[in-house]
Amino acid sequence: MKNMDTTLAKAEMKGLSNCRTGQFYDDVICGLSSTPKFLSSMYFYDAVGDKLFQDLMNCDEYYPTNCELEIFSEKTAEICNAIIGDGDAFDLIELGAGDATKSTYLLKYLLDNGADFSYLPIDISSNVISYLNITLPVTLPGLQMTGLNGEYFNMLTKASTLSDKRKVIMFLGSNIGNMPVDVAEGFCMNVRNHLSPGDMLLIGVDLKKNPATVLAAYNDKEGITKRFNLNLLERINRELDGDFDVTQFEHYPIYDPETGACKSYLVSLTDQQVNINGMHTINFAKDEYIFMEISQKFTIQQVDDMARKASFKPVTHFFDTKKWFTDAIWVAE
Ligand code: AVJ
Repeated sequence: MKNMDTTLAKAEMKGLSNCRTGQFYDDVICGLSSTPKFLSSMYFYDAVGDKLFQDLMNCDEYYPTNCELEIFSEKTAEICNAIIGDGDAFDLIELGAGDATKSTYLLKYLLDNGADFSYLPIDISSNVISYLNITLPVTLPGLQMTGLNGEYFNMLTKASTLSDKRKVIMFLGSNIGNMPVDVAEGFCMNVRNHLSPGDMLLIGVDLKKNPATVLAAYNDKEGITKRFNLNLLERINRELDGDFDVTQFEHYPIYDPETGACKSYLVSLTDQQVNINGMHTINFAKDEYIFMEISQKFTIQQVDDMARKASFKPVTHFFDTKKWFTDAIWVAE
C-alpha cells in the first residue's frame, strides 16, 4: 500500500495521469517515433512555458497580443453589447484563458453593467487555472466563476453539464492558428456541436500582413521564442525523465506568405540519442528536425468562410488600428 502511494505520488509529481504512463508521455513518444518527428505545441504551457509566453507577449516583435489588447480596451462596450444581446443570462466560456488580461476588460464592463453571467475559463495549464481561481475573485469582486483545467472539448462538455444557460464562447489570441487549416475547420465544427442556435463565438484571429513582420514575431532578437520552444524539450526532461541536451538543438522558424502558415522547428545540430524514462531511445540524425508549432495567419475572407463552413453566421469584426488582427463574432445557426 505504501509503495503504491509512493508510485502514484511520483507519477502525479511528474504530471502523469496514472502510475505507468500518461497522455503527455504517450504523445511525446508517438511524436518522436514518427517520421518526420513532431511535438504538440499544446504542451508548451507548463509553469516555465507560461512565464516565457508572458515574456514573449511583452517583447517588441510579438504583436498579436498588443493588437488584441487594443481591440479589447478600445471596443469594450461594443463587444460587450454584442455579447449581452437581449440580456438573457449566459455562460461566458473562455477556451485557453491564460492570464485572462484581455477578458478582464470584458468581465469588468459586464459586471459594471449588471450583466447576468458566469465566467468559465478553460485552460490546459493547471498553473493557469489555480492562478485565475486565486486572482480573479480579488480583482473582480462579485464575479461568478468556475475554472476548468483540461483539454478544450472535455471541459466544454463538462461546462454543458454545469448549466443550460445560453453560451458565449471566447477563443482569443489566435489560438485557432495553432492548428492546420483543415483541423481548425473541424475544430470550429466541433465547437458548434457543443452549442445551440443563437449561441455565440468570439474568436481572435491573426491576419496576413507583411511577411517580415510575421516572421520577426516568431524569431525575436532576445531569443524568447527559441527558449519557449526548447522549454518543451526541458519539460520532457523534467516530467518524463528525458535527457535532451537543448544546446544541441536550433530554433528554425519560417513563414510562407502564400499559405499564411508560420511554422517552428527544432533542428538537431549533431547525430545524437535521447533517452526518455529509461524506456525509449530516440535517434536524431544531424539536421533532422522536430516540427513544433504552426501559427496560421488568415485573410478576413478565410475567417468568414471558416464560420460558414462550421454553421456559424459571421456577424461582426473588430479590428485594431493597423488591421493586423481581428476579433470576430459568430452566431450559431
Ligand atoms: C497565442 C498560442 C497562438 O501561435 O502566436 C507565440 C503562441 N508561439 N510565439 C502563437 C506562440 C510562438 C501563440 N498563441
